[in-house]
Amino acid sequence: MKKLIDAARLAQSNSYSPYSKYKVGAAVQTEDNIIISGCNVESSSYSLTCCAERTALFSAIGRGHRKFKALAVITENGGTPCGACRQVIWDLCGDIPIYIADEKGRIEETTSKELLPNAFDDSSLK
Ligand code: THU
Repeated sequence: MKKLIDAARLAQSNSYSPYSKYKVGAAVQTEDNIIISGCNVESSSYSLTCCAERTALFSAIGRGHRKFKALAVITENGGTPCGACRQVIWDLCGDIPIYIADEKGRIEETTSKELLPNAFDDSSLK
């Protein structure tokens, strides 16, 4: 868990967020314990922004990983994943532990199911 949060913190320092100035880092642990991280990347056309959680997960998928064991996200104030990311986390990871950290060292542990109860489930579409 510490390694995952450290990776998320390092990614947070790469956040490209000139509009919101809200730096987010995320990291995902694959089934074979590889850690892949990402940060939020904003666009001048605001809605094109990609959250840190999705940047990390899409990067992991792009590298060929398909099974994930845990995800960490860090922000200044311990913000939780947005609704869009909750759906993507559910789609790609299923029910896994999610660690939500802030810059003061506080860590909250939850799960993807707790974050998105009664989720739309894509298993019938695969
Ligand atoms: N953001 C994330 O990276 N993850 C979330 O789950 C919530 C929001 C980013 C998007 C935008 O760059 C900034 O935080 C402010 O919304």
